[in-house]
Amino acid sequence: MVLASITFSYIHPNIVGWETGLSVSDQGTRPLGVAVIGAGYWGPNLVRNFRGSGSWDLVAVCDLDEQRARRVIGARSTVEVETSVERLLERNDIDAVAIATPARTHAPLALQALDAGKHVLVEKPLADTPDAAAAMVDAARDAERVLMIDHTYCYTPAVQYIHDAIADGVLGDILYIDSVRINLGLVQPDVDVFWDLAPHDLSILDYILPGGLRPETVSATGSDPLGAGKACNGYLSMPLPGGAIAHVNVNWLSPTKIRQMVIGGSRRTLVWDDLNPAQRISLHDRGVDLATQADDAQNRRAATVSYRLGDVQIPALPEREALGSMVTEFASAIAERRAPRTDGSAGLRVLSVLDAVSGSLSHGGAPVAPTSTVLTGDVVPA
Ligand SMILES: NC(=O)c1ccc[n+]([C@@H]2O[C@H](COP(=O)([O-])OP(=O)(O)OC[C@H]3O[C@@H](n4cnc5c(N)ncnc54)[C@H](O)[C@@H]3O)[C@@H](O)[C@H]2O)c1
Repeated sequence: MVLASITFSYIHPNIVGWETGLSVSDQGTRPLGVAVIGAGYWGPNLVRNFRGSGSWDLVAVCDLDEQRARRVIGARSTVEVETSVERLLERNDIDAVAIATPARTHAPLALQALDAGKHVLVEKPLADTPDAAAAMVDAARDAERVLMIDHTYCYTPAVQYIHDAIADGVLGDILYIDSVRINLGLVQPDVDVFWDLAPHDLSILDYILPGGLRPETVSATGSDPLGAGKACNGYLSMPLPGGAIAHVNVNWLSPTKIRQMVIGGSRRTLVWDDLNPAQRISLHDRGVDLATQADDAQNRRAATVSYRLGDVQIPALPEREALGSMVTEFASAIAERRAPRTDGSAGLRVLSVLDAVSGSLSHGGAPVAPTSTVLTGDVVPA
């Protein structure tokens, strides 16, 4: 991982003793002021979690539609309602903004906020194009502010467990990853099924794969049996380093809902079934060991193949809301002056793969390399 070197000259006025690594609230300082921009479908979830966090003081909710913002904060609330982003960004009691507006507005709003000296949390996807996303990452670096993306799944206990299991070598070398995210979904007016659903799988892969999601090529095929003018069912393959492959299936047309990822490793295979709360993750000491490599038909018979049929382990996972952990991570990254778990570069890598998916679809599934911008370093924020 390449880290840009920046000398920090900026110390947040609300942050005392950031060297301790404790969260903002732990340090006995006043919480950071935050405003949520966008009070549509997803914004209220951010509002609820900022309100419930000891690290944050929710100062205002901003939406072009004033009544929508009022409904979200409810009656008798001290949280203010704002309809102008310009006025919002002039306030000194707001240290950070969380942007939950449509994707095409993310870059202009985030750039405006960074320019005003605010830390920025952006809903996925980071922007609508890799170029716009790269401009956001650069602007955050220049402004020495935290730019974070809400890759919500990366804050679930299950994905945290998977990340740790891979990092600790529990699975051994990764041989393959199969991710299935299918159900009867809403056919979106502006994006295909890849842009709607695959950001979840890709952001998870970016977090759990050592070194992040950096496939050399992406191949995607899709089908549009309804004549919706866009892929409603799609398959995406990415060769991974060391001969492994990651495969993602996203589908709006399936009558059954499946949220499953299988990660085959040389030591263990991990199965994550997100719709099974009693057994979200199982670790299988089962697999195929190939002791000798066969190079022709005759030798193949002599190849030693053995099947491991060991135990299945079901780890106990805590139940907690991912968005609660996400807003805490945002505050901690600001306080500790470090990149958050899901920083702007993570958002850029995911977006770049999505862009390559579109390129591959328009070339009949041919492998397409993601843009090189994502292969350069990580954000080092203030
Ligand atoms: N993390 C997740 O799992 C998750 C889930 C759903 C949606 N999202 C993301 O959240 C974002 C918002 O999606 P949504 O479904 O809530 O959209 P939405 O259309 O329901 O709401 C968007 C709101 O933003 C407001 N708005 C638009 N431009 C604005 C501006 N310039 N200033 C102030 N307000 C403005 C609109 O009036 C609207 O109320 C999208 O990026 C989406 O991808 C993330």
